[in-house]
Amino acid sequence: MQVTTGVAAMAVGYAAFRYMSSPKSANHAYFDGKAVWVTGASSGIGKELCRQLVEKSKGVRLILSSRKEETLREVKEELVAAGARAKDVAIVTLDLGDKETLEAAVERAFKAFGSVDVLVNNAGISQRSLARMTSPVVYDRLMEVDYVGQVYLTQFYLHKMVETKDAEGHIVFISSVAGKIPVPFRSGYCAAKAALDAYASTIRIELELECRPIAVTVVSPGGVRTAVSKNALNKDGEAFGEADAVTAEGMAVDECVGQMIRGISNKVDDFLVCSSLERFAYRLFSYLPLRTATKTILPKYKKYLDATLAKVAS
Ligand SMILES: NC(=O)c1ccc[n+]([C@@H]2O[C@H](COP(=O)([O-])OP(=O)(O)OC[C@H]3O[C@@H](n4cnc5c(N)ncnc54)[C@H](OP(=O)(O)O)[C@@H]3O)[C@@H](O)[C@H]2O)c1
Repeated sequence: MQVTTGVAAMAVGYAAFRYMSSPKSANHAYFDGKAVWVTGASSGIGKELCRQLVEKSKGVRLILSSRKEETLREVKEELVAAGARAKDVAIVTLDLGDKETLEAAVERAFKAFGSVDVLVNNAGISQRSLARMTSPVVYDRLMEVDYVGQVYLTQFYLHKMVETKDAEGHIVFISSVAGKIPVPFRSGYCAAKAALDAYASTIRIELELECRPIAVTVVSPGGVRTAVSKNALNKDGEAFGEADAVTAEGMAVDECVGQMIRGISNKVDDFLVCSSLERFAYRLFSYLPLRTATKTILPKYKKYLDATLAKVAS
């Protein structure tokens, strides 16, 4: 009893500290005139981030990346219609699953505007399948796209930045609450995002140790209403094809991106963008024994999970 009260008091204290130290507003001027490279710019969070940067920051230059050149061209047209100058929007197609090509992609991105001030590692692919039924190749694919590809891009970005002594940079990872707590049907995705979090925390401390002016921000959204669930891999590595309840009832993408910009523009190390239930789950798994956290959260999430369980278990 005493232990539980102590843990609860620590959790409340820490939550209050996080709230007090969390930036209350976005600093849109942070992006003024900066070259910002957004991977996964063809859809969802990445596309909306580009739109809000054009709308709210002056003279921002954007490098749009994903696999689909035609879709990126359409996004560029939309950004120009929203006020961007065509010469300030470049397209660099890349496939994060094809790691041999990523050094050349970084070269092309740096060539677009001479440097890259902010790299937003946003592209990613999710999963909707029961672990016991999932083909091992699905784990390869999730690790390649959600972890290895992002690390390659970041490594080559760092090489370019340290070539220019004192170059100020900022590396952003769009991770997930699923990288911090277990979320059913996403075993490979949770593992890849957790690995990305660990990599980000380690390079942040190394960059500070070396006094390099390169910030590292991890943004972890909860469910957001994008095509992520539709594009997620099923047990055979095919598209899941529909929105599960966590995504369908998630945050609107414009609200998510508005909050993300608050964290990124204030160079927050680790920034959660999620519902109060997702934040509660995150706190449970941070402070309570795993068994207690699991037993507490399962009934609360049941309504979100049952329909998907019926689908993925058949
Ligand atoms: N929506 C959510 O509920 C949620 C929650 C937490 C975290 N996140 C994270 O947020 C990020 C963006 O997701 P989203 O919700 O915007 O999903 P989305 O609408 O499916 O967008 C995913 C983006 O990633 C790109 N992408 C996928 N595979 C790629 C590859 N192999 N190489 C290069 N680009 C690739 C896609 O572009 P192409 O298909 O054109 O290549 C697309 O632009 C992801 O990292 C995701 O894990 C999303």
